[in-house]
Amino acid sequence: MEIPRLHPETIEEVKQRADIFDVISQKVVLRKRGKEYVGLCPFHEEKTPSFSVNPSKQMYYCFGCGAGGNAINFLMEVGKQSFSDVVLDLARRYQVSVKTLEPEARQQLQRQLSLREQLYEILALASSFYQHTLRQPQGQLALEYLQSQRRLTEETIQQFQLGYAPAGWDTLYRYLVEQKGKPVQQVEQAGLIKPRKSGSGYYDRFRDRLIIPIQDLKGRVIGFGGRTLAQEEPKYLNSPETQLFDKGKTLFALDKAHHAITEQDQAVVVEGYFDVIALHAAGITNVVASLGTALSLDQVRQLIRYTESKQIVLNFDADAAGTKAAQRAIGEIADLAYKGQIQLRVLNLADGKDADEFLKEHADAVAKYRQQLLAAPLWLNWQIEQLLIGKDLKQADQFQQVAEQMLELLRKLENSTPSPHYINYCAQLLSQGDSRLTSLHVKNLLAQLKKPKSRSRKKEIQRSHLPFLAASKHSLLEEAEALLLRIYLHYPEYRPTIVASLETRDLIFSLSHHRFLWQQILKIQVLKADLLFKKAPDQLISLLQDRRVKFPQQMAQVAHLFHLDEKHSEDLIRTPLVIRAAVACLEQIACEKRRRYCLEQWLKLEPSTDGQRKQYYCQQLLETDSRLKELEQMRQVSFSDVIETAQ
Ligand code: UTP
Ligand code: MN
Repeated sequence: MEIPRLHPETIEEVKQRADIFDVISQKVVLRKRGKEYVGLCPFHEEKTPSFSVNPSKQMYYCFGCGAGGNAINFLMEVGKQSFSDVVLDLARRYQVSVKTLEPEARQQLQRQLSLREQLYEILALASSFYQHTLRQPQGQLALEYLQSQRRLTEETIQQFQLGYAPAGWDTLYRYLVEQKGKPVQQVEQAGLIKPRKSGSGYYDRFRDRLIIPIQDLKGRVIGFGGRTLAQEEPKYLNSPETQLFDKGKTLFALDKAHHAITEQDQAVVVEGYFDVIALHAAGITNVVASLGTALSLDQVRQLIRYTESKQIVLNFDADAAGTKAAQRAIGEIADLAYKGQIQLRVLNLADGKDADEFLKEHADAVAKYRQQLLAAPLWLNWQIEQLLIGKDLKQADQFQQVAEQMLELLRKLENSTPSPHYINYCAQLLSQGDSRLTSLHVKNLLAQLKKPKSRSRKKEIQRSHLPFLAASKHSLLEEAEALLLRIYLHYPEYRPTIVASLETRDLIFSLSHHRFLWQQILKIQVLKADLLFKKAPDQLISLLQDRRVKFPQQMAQVAHLFHLDEKHSEDLIRTPLVIRAAVACLEQIACEKRRRYCLEQWLKLEPSTDGQRKQYYCQQLLETDSRLKELEQMRQVSFSDVIETAQ
């Protein structure tokens, strides 16, 4: 029996009432993650969930196999049921009354469906018309342009079905409407002609332009891009959005690229039609273009259907508009990258060239381009690198700014424990080539990331008293000293250890606010020795608090050390290790000062007159160097242990 056609209102109401979570959770175990739910995809085998359900959008999507849609699509796929069967089931379940279409309305629907077919046909006709014209005398300049300027072979011209729209006002109109008998409205709906502004009649949208057909996945023409050959504006004129052509959902050349994308497990997205054409002609065929707009979620979803590991390389012009272009181009998909749902890479060719220009430039450009594809940095690495452009990390304020921006980026990463890869990467950059600093920067970044952002610390202590310390070292020292003081204040049992470690190496606190606090501690300990050492070691903090009256400003700078929040108590789980690492850090700073001093002296001294002293400083230099190595090891070992525990 034929199923009666359902009324659109019924379908709409079913869509409104049937909640996607409701529907899917009957078949799939869903877990909440952020605003979405995740579970194991019912459409393909998997062990870790890549199937997500978004209740606010009423959509599901599987990042593993690309299945996606609304509640109705889900039931259709799961149950291998037809659309109307599913709608009828749901209507029953959600008590929606079922209306069917009147015969008239059914005809209307039929007409709408066949309109699409008509439009496909009109566009196909137009495309062959343009291709034909390219081979006519009037198309000669265009053909020469393709051959000489663009260096395209006949094969490529045919593969992309390139054509030429003649210069006349209504050549295509006359061909389609008068010769082929196509209805004017339909030709207009296909985006090929426009009504004249004055009077009646129509004129061709594309005139005297090189024509690049845009095809859907099945290779059907759905629109055109037309490049001017006469320096007119706009450089590229495109079909308007039509029933068939949705710019945000179309990727130029996906029909020609998807096999290669699957094979190479990577998709390259470029900006221009001719970038695609040139790359395909050069044998790099996993390439599509985004039609001059920001890459949409929809486009990316289409792409990652073909790449198993979801690798996308954006090769956008890094031109005058700068790398902002790539930032913009990424638009709404940045989120997917932050969540690790796609592996997004950015390729900027030298001198802001686009792929097309690049390929023409070099003799071995193809090999070079492939190399660059391999070397393209991940989107986040690239973004992190962008932060450093034009910055001098030796300047405290610029260092601070870069570090904050890095944190901002890292915070956007999905997981609560951000990827060690990126933290390490940031730490390396902040260390400015001094690998000894990396692990402490890692620690710093981790510490910062654990804090809620609003509590961005107000510990912008004056740096002026330590002008010679690079900003990176400064924050390192800040952290190490603060750790020692915290332990001293909150864990009385470790006080002797700390005092001994500092004294045996003759170390002092270098930062003035810490030195101030240390002096206050010593003073109180002398004054209240009885109380503190025998009866109530815990009283130290409250005794210090009393000093706030006398030294309000100085005490305010160190007051944060008096509280031990969760994060910091976690830090201190393996206290002896932390003490060792922090003391090593203090000693390192002192040692480096000493090394600098020795080096200066050594350089100043004349071998002929000050031979002995010169020798002495040389010896000292060697000794400090080897001590620095030891310290580094001590610190690294200890801190990596600490970090492991903290994670
Ligand atoms: P570009 O201006 O970077 O062009 O625009 P291109 O591809 O390097 O152009 P050639 O090499 O000079 O021919 C990139 C893409 O942006 C869209 C087109 O899709 C173009 O390929 N675009 C550009 C437009 O849609 N309209 C325009 O006016 C310009
Ligand atoms: Mn170009």
